Amino acid sequence: MNDPAAFHREAVEKLRAEVDGPAIVAASGGIDSTIAAALAQEALGERAHALFVDTGLLRQGEVDAVGGYLRASGIRYTLLPAEERFLSALDGVAEPEEKRRRIGEAFIRLFEAEADRIGTNRLVQGTIAPDWIESGGGARDTIKSHHNVGGVPKDSRLTLVEPLRDLYKDEVRQLAEHLGLPHAERQPFPGPGLAVRVAGPISRERIRIARRANAAVEEEIDAAVARGEIRRPWQYFAVLLPVRSVGVTGDNRAHGDAVTVRVVDSVDAMTATAMPLPAELLRRIAERITREQPGVVTRVLYDVTDKPPATIEWE
Ligand code: XMP
Repeated sequence: MNDPAAFHREAVEKLRAEVDGPAIVAASGGIDSTIAAALAQEALGERAHALFVDTGLLRQGEVDAVGGYLRASGIRYTLLPAEERFLSALDGVAEPEEKRRRIGEAFIRLFEAEADRIGTNRLVQGTIAPDWIESGGGARDTIKSHHNVGGVPKDSRLTLVEPLRDLYKDEVRQLAEHLGLPHAERQPFPGPGLAVRVAGPISRERIRIARRANAAVEEEIDAAVARGEIRRPWQYFAVLLPVRSVGVTGDNRAHGDAVTVRVVDSVDAMTATAMPLPAELLRRIAERITREQPGVVTRVLYDVTDKPPATIEWE
């Protein structure tokens, strides 16, 4: 994008042309959907209804953090609590594409109900180019159906409006700066949330374990960045693996879960490199994760694979 100001002007004009009544806007608190919400609000004023869904798959403290970020960005939004709907739709589901399909479906059904309530069929989303390219758009194989693409059921009566669909992540950042959105210092977080950070079958308990391990990784890395020990990585998180291993807690044998830590550098998420971390920091992360969930998580691994051949997420 050479000229963010020109993109901004045209996007607002296009939104006005595409949406003549009200519209709902899917706001996750990520940079993409926050820009889409800001553009929709500018173009449509009170006719834009931003919705932030608590899926029960969010990170520790995320409902508050996202609320704060949306408010600081000037977005008027409604919080929809929907933990039960999502967690029961996912219970026991192991296959990554099936997780995304069910999450996409749950989002759309929720949005359809809200759309009916306000009398529209327009849904504004912050889909960007890598979302649909990796979902099998163009001539590519389907790597992952990013939930905001692959998960939209064919029979949905919602018409998608996607003002950012041709942009890449670096362009999104330029645009956020141009729009004067507050700098969030937040790493990208996938729409399906912790559902794809629990590798294998989902349960409420496994989501809780993954959430806790993930919070430990985020806090330790944030602290290391604040102390100037490392650069801020592109993404850093924990994945709960479908693997049990033997450990010891005190004098007792424990057959516990394994967590892998993933820390990557990237510019646009299309490729990524696994970041080397200082040994002391790795040790601290492993110690903290296992101490906080004794006998539950008994092993911590570090993922050293680049993308390609791996992807950033495990699922
Ligand atoms: P992968 O794992 O495909 O991830 O290398 C590339 C980037 O996309 C994020 N990601 C997703 N984002 N819905 C999203 O909105 C998804 O289903 C999804 N899967 C992966 C991932 O966190 C990384 O930033």
